[in-house]
Amino acid sequence: MPALVLLGAQWGDEGKGKATDLLGGSVDYVVRYQGGNNAGHTVVVGDQKYALHLLPSGILSPGCTPVIGNGVVVDPSVLFSELSGLNERGVDTSKLLISGNAHIITPYNVTVDKVTERFLGKRKIGTTGRGIGPTYADKINRVGIRVQDLYDESILTQKVEAALDVKNQMLTKFYNRRAIATDQVVGELLGYAEKLRPYVADTVLVLNQALEQDKVVLFEGGQGTLLDIDHGTYPFVTSSNPTAGGACTGAGVGPTKITRVIGILKAYTTRVGAGPFPTELFDEDGEALRRIGGERGVTTGRDRRCGWFDAVIARYATRVNGLTDFFLTKLDVLTGWEQIPVCVAYEIDGKRVEELPYSQTDFHHAKPVYEMLPGWSEDITGAKSFSDLPKNAQAYVKALEEMSGAPISAIGVGPGREETIQINSFL
Ligand code: IMP
Repeated sequence: MPALVLLGAQWGDEGKGKATDLLGGSVDYVVRYQGGNNAGHTVVVGDQKYALHLLPSGILSPGCTPVIGNGVVVDPSVLFSELSGLNERGVDTSKLLISGNAHIITPYNVTVDKVTERFLGKRKIGTTGRGIGPTYADKINRVGIRVQDLYDESILTQKVEAALDVKNQMLTKFYNRRAIATDQVVGELLGYAEKLRPYVADTVLVLNQALEQDKVVLFEGGQGTLLDIDHGTYPFVTSSNPTAGGACTGAGVGPTKITRVIGILKAYTTRVGAGPFPTELFDEDGEALRRIGGERGVTTGRDRRCGWFDAVIARYATRVNGLTDFFLTKLDVLTGWEQIPVCVAYEIDGKRVEELPYSQTDFHHAKPVYEMLPGWSEDITGAKSFSDLPKNAQAYVKALEEMSGAPISAIGVGPGREETIQINSFL
């Protein structure tokens, strides 16, 4: 019963789409367990490029059942536009399963996300504005709307009414916005009910039965470790748990079932939105990483902040996720630098610190301590095995592996499906 968790080891956008897609051909189920359409995966299949936000990347692999687990928040309008976009390109999406316990991102959750960010001004989180935080807040406050609520109009109306009672007070009296009418929201949500019905399933039962039958299940994190609500750079985080434990709660599978936890690790570092980022570059090197790496958000179109590889973060990701493997992505982007700095520790208020400080204030003061590794100039995009890489690229990978605390089992050397070096099998 191979149950693999695949998640970002940094701040997201590490190239998970490529990894899930690579595995997709050999797995039976690909499961999203947290987040919503704040995620952005670019998957390149042949000469076709797909940008997915909410749907599991496995939707592109025929034979694989894509699952949206209970821990995900679903915006139905985004779901259907993503599905029809894929259908128009000939992708069969009929196998998709959606948990009846997944929460719905309602129009008022999106409004609240936008008005609160605007109100925060300089202190804003830099959210994707998709209503993610407010929807999870409603879930925890026990005033959320679940997929299954769409099939009981009276319950749905009561729940929307209860949620809007408070929100309309806030929107009108505090944020100076118009009130949102219950019947308008209920009408819109009911409009999705029948279209959603064929996909709604008891996904916990389906996935546990699949594991009992020795099927291969891949749990796909939407965001990175450092964006985790518990283990990330709070408050500059997303409102759910992309870390490995989130796969258990967000899909209803026990921790004893998980056989492998793979961290996707970019060969340098990027971040979208606000918050501390010790190795961030503000010079031409940062600009070059952004340009060569195509570092622009798939979801928001925002330029990503770019910096050198940070081994302190990678070690932390290994620890909080219990990583068994890394998938190193975008190594080709580093081709051409004479020397490549790698952050091996931080200096915080004059002291050298080897591990991620648990104090947010300390992390804000952290300055990177760099070690210089020799670069390479040869084109590596055609490399098929580790030994095809130039010696200095091999040494870079080995150094990262040693510093990060888990074996690097695959290396991405280009955006295409086939541009991957597999060192150890994930299955
Ligand atoms: P939210 O998830 O929209 O609430 O945004 C919270 C923070 O997480 C912001 O800094 C976002 O930029 C960041 N974020 C959310 N999803 C992603 C992602 O898929 N990649 C990178 N950053 C993300």
